[in-house]
Amino acid sequence: MIQIAIDGPSGAGKSTVAKALAAKLGIIYVDTGALYRTVGYYVRSRDTDPKDAAAVEALLPGIHVELKYENGTQIVCLNGENLGDKIRTPEMSMYASAVSAIPAVRAFLLDTQREIAAKNSVIMDGRDIGTVILPNADVKIFLTASDECRAQRRCDELNAKGIPSTLEEVLSDMRQRDLADSTRAVAPAVAAEDAILFDNSWMTPDECTAKLAEVIEATLAARRA
Ligand code: DC
Repeated sequence: MIQIAIDGPSGAGKSTVAKALAAKLGIIYVDTGALYRTVGYYVRSRDTDPKDAAAVEALLPGIHVELKYENGTQIVCLNGENLGDKIRTPEMSMYASAVSAIPAVRAFLLDTQREIAAKNSVIMDGRDIGTVILPNADVKIFLTASDECRAQRRCDELNAKGIPSTLEEVLSDMRQRDLADSTRAVAPAVAAEDAILFDNSWMTPDECTAKLAEVIEATLAARRA
């Protein structure tokens, strides 16, 4: 079984590249951000402040999050309901980031992530995959790009989904979220010591995928040798 960890800030292209690599390698792609977004969605639906750790923790017993795969595509269900794109709004990004700083939420989602990696070969993207979730992953990549490139990508993505967004708004939200994610006390979004740092600012998704496929192949070959 293979474990590939892809961490990095928002808009670095982790999901696009990880999905393509999973298809290429014939393994499962796990989007862990969707789990935090799902908890954020539930917290919002209960009119709860996502920064109120005690209040959020009290809601956790009412949450059942399930990861499923349909035709190779990940589906996250909240208490049996597939939330689809409802977790992809800028508001849900902020809720996800806020609840992800709460240790009880991270502990709550830990087993779901480790279990799927125990049963399948995976390429998993997130913020703490190489540092906390899969510390013994075969390959660890920390993917990043300049703030402007990442914001432009996120902005294009949101507009394509019919969520009107401006570059300024997205850049400001993104910087706020990155700062919170990388400076939180628990499992901050930082590169693992043994991660390969990869900046894809000037690459198309195809170029980045091809280059990372080479990096992964070389790393796996070196491990086997
Ligand atoms: O990858 P994303 O934008 O969907 O993630 C949403 C938020 O969830 C992000 O701001 C930080 C948090 N997150 C996390 O703390 N750990 C992960 N492994 C994945 C996401």
